[in-house]
Amino acid sequence: MKASSALGVSGAEDKMRIILLGPPGAGKGTQAKVLAEKLKLTHISTGDILRQNVSKGTQLGKQAIEFMNKGLLVPDELVTKMLTEMFDQPDAKKGFILDGFPRNIGQAQTLDDILKQRNMSIDMVAYLDASEPVIIQRLTGRLVCSACGANFHTKNMPPKKDMICDNCGSSLYQRADDQVETIKNRLEVYQKESAGAIQYYEKQKKLHRLDADEEAETVINNIIHLTAQYNDSPKV
Ligand code: AP5
Repeated sequence: MKASSALGVSGAEDKMRIILLGPPGAGKGTQAKVLAEKLKLTHISTGDILRQNVSKGTQLGKQAIEFMNKGLLVPDELVTKMLTEMFDQPDAKKGFILDGFPRNIGQAQTLDDILKQRNMSIDMVAYLDASEPVIIQRLTGRLVCSACGANFHTKNMPPKKDMICDNCGSSLYQRADDQVETIKNRLEVYQKESAGAIQYYEKQKKLHRLDADEEAETVINNIIHLTAQYNDSPKV
């Protein structure tokens, strides 16, 4: 897949910069794709970019895969380098939704530094909060398109044709890290690492908590409501 595809939807003049934070399975990827389309922003998913590197067999992919398959974080320096390259692409300058980054306070501080060097800053952080039983149900049933990356779910959002993507007709697969034991590791890592990043954005008064156990449509409407408030308020 091309780097521009890794960046997802683009082509807008809107310069809003949003982070979707939350545990694995909260719905960050699902919501980011819809939001990117509705607000015409670029979707940057560190998980998607890493998976593309793994499937292409790049040096980064070879270094990342052992961490990903165990449900551990890929070392900060690798992810940060990858992300910095993304921010230098034209699409990222038009406004973006960041999904899967930052995961800890170090990454949050690094992100601010990278953006500052490019005269950018984060406008809003939506924290999608989901409970463990909901997360396990969502991740064990998740299906992902091998070509376009669209998300489906065996029960919650089934594809029209069994194991075929509604959007592009390619085959669907289950992610290697969506096994129950690996999901539990990912949740443990999330609990341990993410608190610092959440506090970081709370202190900046940018964090908005949303109930992500709700139906997907309710969650997206709540996020859009928040972005509308942002657009209505005077910028400082
Ligand atoms: P990544 O791909 O980012 O995984 P994650 O954070 O664990 O998040 P997920 O993609 O599993 O969940 P999601 O919140 O996007 O849920 P989704 O929308 O798919 O990262 C993978 C790995 O890469 C990490 O473990 C790590 O190793 C590495 N990595 C990535 N970023 C890194 C970083 N910054 N630093 C270091 N390492 C990094 O939804 C899940 C399912 O639920 C889908 O089937 C969907 O259809 C369904 N669903 C979604 N919302 C709803 C709803 N409201 N109601 C019903 N069903 C729903």
